[in-house]
Amino acid sequence: MQNLLSSKDLGKDDILDIIKTAEMYHDLAAGKGSSKELEGKILAALFYEPSTRTRLSTETAMVRLGGQVITAVGEEFSSLKKGETLYDTGKVVSKFADVIAVRHKQAGSAAELAKGAEVPLINCGDGPADHPTQALLDAYTIYKQYGRLDNLKICFAGDLKFSRTAHGLIQLLSNFEGNEVRLVSPESLSLGSEYKVDGNEYVEVDDLAEAVKEVDVVYSIRVQKERFKDQSEYERLKAVYVFDKAFLEENCPESILMHPLPRIDEITKDADEFKGSVYFDMVTNGVAVRMALLTKLLCS
Ligand code: NCD
Repeated sequence: MQNLLSSKDLGKDDILDIIKTAEMYHDLAAGKGSSKELEGKILAALFYEPSTRTRLSTETAMVRLGGQVITAVGEEFSSLKKGETLYDTGKVVSKFADVIAVRHKQAGSAAELAKGAEVPLINCGDGPADHPTQALLDAYTIYKQYGRLDNLKICFAGDLKFSRTAHGLIQLLSNFEGNEVRLVSPESLSLGSEYKVDGNEYVEVDDLAEAVKEVDVVYSIRVQKERFKDQSEYERLKAVYVFDKAFLEENCPESILMHPLPRIDEITKDADEFKGSVYFDMVTNGVAVRMALLTKLLCS
């Protein structure tokens, strides 16, 4: 693997291989032990859109493997603001680093930067389109729970239009047999047809309680405020589908509740006590997956 630009670049064997490697790194990701595997290597983290987890998780993965990190945050502080192209940015940053991680508001931006880059590149979110490392950590989380990625029922609830994490995970799931993807969203935020890829069965449901019935995974998604032109529309839709402890215990007591975070209105704090809530565990899973990915890109 040379780059990770799109969830579409990942086949079944790649996904399972990264999961197996992530399992190996899990203790290290959780802060137990140390490694020099990537000693002497530099990661450039270019985060031109807001991020807490993805940037710190990718940087932590690099540092825990003995590598080092250089960071550029915020488009307004970069030469993109002066009009430099993504292509030139890729060329220039390759002179500093051995691997690049990038997040940018534009769909296709990672691929554009990769055209200029001379080192491996990781897409950490290109606008509303895709977020392949999150999709991998989501797949790892599901695998850890169920020991498989096939014959599952997964309900995606919330902003399916703009959620790059839902787009990426739905793509990954399509590599496996027998997955039912339930979709529940306000009508104006429904999943675009380009993301209903072959390989999964799709079931659209209006009612939240109905949608989560007997599913293995509930995947809750924040309404993506930053993608709305009309903020009053955001206000209207931001809390249409909300999970609290009582709802979860009544309607999907055996499911796990996932969320890429940050949660805003869609998961209440008392849902943290629900036994299936795994969203904070997903943070460590993300470090392990990014360790697996960095070693795959830099050592093979
Ligand atoms: C997600 C993102 O940036 O797409 N966050 C993340 O990377 N963990 C989800 C979100 O912001 O809603």
